[in-house]
Amino acid sequence: ASTLGAQAATSGRYFGTAVAAGRLGDSTYVSILDREFNAITPENEMKWDATEPSRNSFSFGSADQIVSHAQSHGQRMRGHTLVWHNQLPSWVSSINDANTLRSVMDNHITQVMSHFKGKIYAWDVVNEAFADGSTQHRSSVFQNVLGNGFIEEAFRTARNADPSAKLCYNDYNIEDWNAAKTQGVYSMVRDFKSRGVPIDCVGFQSHFGTGGPPSTFQTTLSNFAALGVDVQLTELDIAQASSTNYSNTVRACMNVSRCTGITVWGIRDSDSWRSSENPLLFSSNGSKKSAYDAVLSAL
Ligand code: XIL
Repeated sequence: ASTLGAQAATSGRYFGTAVAAGRLGDSTYVSILDREFNAITPENEMKWDATEPSRNSFSFGSADQIVSHAQSHGQRMRGHTLVWHNQLPSWVSSINDANTLRSVMDNHITQVMSHFKGKIYAWDVVNEAFADGSTQHRSSVFQNVLGNGFIEEAFRTARNADPSAKLCYNDYNIEDWNAAKTQGVYSMVRDFKSRGVPIDCVGFQSHFGTGGPPSTFQTTLSNFAALGVDVQLTELDIAQASSTNYSNTVRACMNVSRCTGITVWGIRDSDSWRSSENPLLFSSNGSKKSAYDAVLSAL
């Protein structure tokens, strides 16, 4: 096939991109989006500061815009993200009572998932809960006030809210099998599977430097998949976008049958949160870069 999404679909996978609602009026952007991609992750529009800026007052306008675009163009949606320490309103981060925070977190998950019920293929239920260089959770209001059990609580609440959505744990720097952080997340997923805590997928953000993916990336993906979860590359971008780095990354996923899809974190270099590193598949004028051809051939 001649586009990323259509080629990924030939093996039952999707190829997605992060989308910013504010760019949906840019005709170059939208024409690439609808030609190449069959999955969308909202870049910021489903984060807590956007969806519940004050307690129990929800705003879904820009997220709804993206979801309706996806629905009318046959694109799957990944929901991103329900529980995260960043882009979190200060009214949440200042809660210090466990019963209050638990009900606030559960209400947020329930209200947001219910609003989009039936329209989301997979949700990043918890994002970036582990500390770099460690097997332990990072400090956050959720960890500090609720303790280690907050992740399990979030996943159980999410399953009740929308039983048909896949529930993912999403993080960065968990691509190298030899990293302590990878081992910490792996132990959590193994524990959840053994105790019946609902988890269906692990998202590997895959924000890589000029060195590209770690050599152990495919091993990591297949070891997680062997625990009984899908694995997905959820926010892929690579500094300077070398063809070799992109092709090695895509091949790691293609070689693992439960690696069900890849999402790049933006369309053109100018759309990227790392725009000075030119990390994406399309140049700022919308033309395909050599990394694009490398990815299409690796799919
Ligand atoms: C980034 C967005 O791309 C930026 O627009 C925003 O200013 C900050 O967040 N990990 C994640 C994503 O899970 O949500 C982040 O997205 C990038 C790192």
